[in-house]
Amino acid sequence: MKKKNLIIFGTRPEAIKMAPLVKAFLKKSDYFDTKVCITAQHREMLDQVLSFFDIIPDYDLDLMKPNQNLYSLTADIITSLKPVLEDFNPDFVYVHGDTTTTMAASIAAFYSGAKVCHVEAGLRTFNKRSPFPEEINRSIAGSVSDFHFAPTTTSRDNLLNENITDSNILVTGNTVIDALEYSSAIVSSDVYQDKEIEDLKRIVENDKRLLLVTGHRRENHGQGFINICSALKTIAQKHKDVQIIYPVHLNPNVQKPVYDLLGNEENIKLIAPLSYPSFVWLMNKSYLIITDSGGVQEEAPSLGKPVLVMRDTTERPEAVDAGTVLLVGTDTNKIINETNKLLKDNKNYEEMSKLHNPYGDGKACERIVNFILNK
Ligand code: UD1
Ligand code: UDP
Repeated sequence: MKKKNLIIFGTRPEAIKMAPLVKAFLKKSDYFDTKVCITAQHREMLDQVLSFFDIIPDYDLDLMKPNQNLYSLTADIITSLKPVLEDFNPDFVYVHGDTTTTMAASIAAFYSGAKVCHVEAGLRTFNKRSPFPEEINRSIAGSVSDFHFAPTTTSRDNLLNENITDSNILVTGNTVIDALEYSSAIVSSDVYQDKEIEDLKRIVENDKRLLLVTGHRRENHGQGFINICSALKTIAQKHKDVQIIYPVHLNPNVQKPVYDLLGNEENIKLIAPLSYPSFVWLMNKSYLIITDSGGVQEEAPSLGKPVLVMRDTTERPEAVDAGTVLLVGTDTNKIINETNKLLKDNKNYEEMSKLHNPYGDGKACERIVNFILNK
């Protein structure tokens, strides 16, 4: 009898990090019957990923609403998953990370009686309001999960400290490195053509240093984004040899302040969210990345790019310890000062741009598949 897998995700980062797992399970179709369910907590940004990785979901709950709230999204996900779980009756349900989809889907899967498998398990800041609501989302997913795929030994230790049984934890590396390798191999092939990358080549000014910016965290909405934009404006005005490119997240709480405050700056280019290969291409081109993203913090060290993280806490301490990532919060002066340092001080820049790979070797999905084969 084949084991039945249901892989559930809803947002851009979950899709990027689950795509290689979907592919790895589909390759083992002699052993597994694998289906994909998307909540579509994100729509356009999720579809971009599905299209690049060539994944056609078996179930599409199509839940995204404009400026959605946590209450109704959580309720909608749990309610809409019931018929899917009843229809497919999976043995194993896979959720990823820390979004509302992760938390709600893990609870629904637990209700169904399936074994819950948490990918990217064990990340913790130990501050329940930062990141909000992700810290609590991943704790809840962890507490209902049967198997925990921890990206690093630090995340495994966090789980052990919560009395999770050692044999139910597997240190896998982060599947984002699997995704990055997959994407890099495709983009670097001779036959690959991408209109978006061709368009980007026309936007990037090669005689300037490129600062790549992304941001979306809920706890930064409001004053945080005003501070961030103010810092970026000052940096752009002060350093004419710099070009800032900012693919702006589609959340209206991000779009409005960013376009209002930075829409008319000469050396700031605001663009739509990029497909994954284009974003990886742009990360490779960049001199420095300024972000509040979780995934970008993991990708940048293996590309040798320094990152200033606009958050007060991180659940990904490995790259901070390795010196590639520096937390700057959303304090305008701190963002400006640390950026200035990296633009002016070559030694500091060289130290931060060392290649590091604390998050994996590209074999995380293979490890997960082998682990489940033996269950
Ligand atoms: C969500 C996750 C966050 C994750 C982030 C990745 C939660 C609570 N938040 O935050 O953990 O880091 O995704 O990007 O799970 N929108 C679109 N099109 C899209 C995507 C979003 O228009 O493709 C707009 C919609 O108006 C939507 C809003 O953004 O209602 C907010 O989306 P939501 O998923 O609730 O929050 P994010 O800020 O994207
Ligand atoms: N990313 C992308 N296009 C963009 C910006 C980011 O494909 O325009 C990718 C990025 O490489 C990373 C992921 O999206 O893998 C991070 O998503 P996000 O920052 O939205 O969420 P987080 O990781 O903070 O949960």
